[in-house]
Amino acid sequence: NFMVQIRVAVLTVSDTASSNATADKSGPAIREILASSDSFVCNNHSIVADDVSVIRAAVTSWCERRDVDWVITSGGTGFGVRDLTPEAISPLLEREAPGLVHLMLASSLQHTPLAALSRPVAGTIMNTLVVTLPGSVKAVKENMEALLAGGVVRHAIELIR
Ligand code: MTE
Repeated sequence: NFMVQIRVAVLTVSDTASSNATADKSGPAIREILASSDSFVCNNHSIVADDVSVIRAAVTSWCERRDVDWVITSGGTGFGVRDLTPEAISPLLEREAPGLVHLMLASSLQHTPLAALSRPVAGTIMNTLVVTLPGSVKAVKENMEALLAGGVVRHAIELIR
């Protein structure tokens, strides 16, 4: 059963972390989860401020490359006035994936009612899957567990690449 590694780019979206990389806890948490599986390899990671055009530029540049299967963003999905990640990503999506959004919210609501304050989006841009996670390490771990369970993301990427 030959398995090709899924190549993942991780974007931390945070004003704080963009001016002080040591403040980024969620990006390293995502990379640690990916590294614990033979199925995934993180080949790009970056930190950007909560700025729509900067978020778009980072995601677009990764999706235009042929070596990124999955873009995971973390942060900026909530109701704060600077939380603009969904607004940045939504217009870029060629095909939306409400099922993945549903999966993330349904599983997150099992952990905390505050999950209702996350406004995640998911979908495809060219041959890349894009998913937006909340910014806390706790939320990252819970959402990654939901996305990886049952090979959901693996199967999605097998279909699009
Ligand atoms: N989802 C899970 N699974 N676990 C959590 O602890 N925290 C919530 C929510 N989603 C949480 C979660 C909280 S408190 C907020 S404010 C929103 O995600 C938005 O987070 P963000 O603005 O950092 O993206």
